[in-house]
Amino acid sequence: MSEARSTAFAPHEEAADAAIVIEEVRKRYGDHQAVDGVSLQVRRGEFFGLLGPNGAGKTTLVEMMEGLRRADSGTVTVLGQSPWPRNVALLPRLGVQTQTSAFFVRQTAREHLRTVAALYGAGRDDADRTLADVGLDGQRDVMVENLSGGQRQRLAIASALVHGPELIFLDEPTAALDPQARRDLWDVLRELKSAGRTIVYTTHHLDEAEALCDRVAILVAGSVAALDSPHHLVSAAAAPTRVLLPVERLSREEAAAMAGVDRVTVQGGSLVLETATSGKVLQALDALTGLDGVQTRTATLEDVYLELTGARHGDQHDHDTERQA
Ligand SMILES: Nc1ncnc2c1ncn2[C@@H]1O[C@H](COP(=O)(O)OP(=O)(O)OP(=O)(O)O)[C@@H](O)[C@H]1O
Ligand SMILES: [Mg+2]
Repeated sequence: MSEARSTAFAPHEEAADAAIVIEEVRKRYGDHQAVDGVSLQVRRGEFFGLLGPNGAGKTTLVEMMEGLRRADSGTVTVLGQSPWPRNVALLPRLGVQTQTSAFFVRQTAREHLRTVAALYGAGRDDADRTLADVGLDGQRDVMVENLSGGQRQRLAIASALVHGPELIFLDEPTAALDPQARRDLWDVLRELKSAGRTIVYTTHHLDEAEALCDRVAILVAGSVAALDSPHHLVSAAAAPTRVLLPVERLSREEAAAMAGVDRVTVQGGSLVLETATSGKVLQALDALTGLDGVQTRTATLEDVYLELTGARHGDQHDHDTERQA
């Protein structure tokens, strides 16, 4: 099985360069089927994103890859081995940041990270460098329990990276981070990727997944609803282009009556015209009001996600109508 590969793997065909191979994996909690027959492969060196609504099964799936949970059925292969039962040969090669991380108490940030480093046979220098990488240099002498939420999250990420693992699992690493810290972490993750590491991560930030991931899987109710590069997913989607203009420029009725406009809403002081023919709409707008202050937004991964997870024309629409009244 060494022929050239396309982006999609045929089921049950294992790529020679696969870091993770998951086949028909299922996990049930009581009568709730949390993961319902997932098959996917993550390539070595790939930045792979797992997306999906709360409760979709992302953490459960990641924990089965990490060897923290056992699949009810199906197979999980990580770096050519089974992570379950707890595989000590695999542990030093994996970096794991779980959604709820535990820390050594009554230690400073630096002591904590040095302790973690020592457990993996890494040195104090590795700990200090990683602490700086995640921007915690200034907090190195702060007790772990006194770190802010975002600082604790950074320490959890540092704990996953300190021993230089080749396969890194991060479960919502940027959830509690401020915008600058989030961008700083992107840089850290991009460097890891360019050093050849494989990264599997979950996020609810779709702009971030679009910026970072080679491929994403969108999980819905325990199944893979889509799996491809963000670029392919966005170009294949039928999501509309949005043309935004200052709300006082046109009435909602005038906008809705324009040829090519499929839907009109008001959002954040802008009139938003959804269209599949933005060229035509822009031309008409130019003739009507001029194009000063007009913005165009093409489809994003968020549009694809909302389409797939079925949350699209719900609350937002009601909210718009309310504002209009
Ligand atoms: N230990 C558990 N016992 C029982 N049910 C669980 C357990 N862990 C998760 N579940 C349930 O399984 C489903 C999937 O949970 P999971 O944590 O994998 O979702 P998730 O996609 O990571 O969600 P989030 O985005 O909120 O982190 C949820 O309905 C959750 O309530
Ligand atoms: Mg989760």
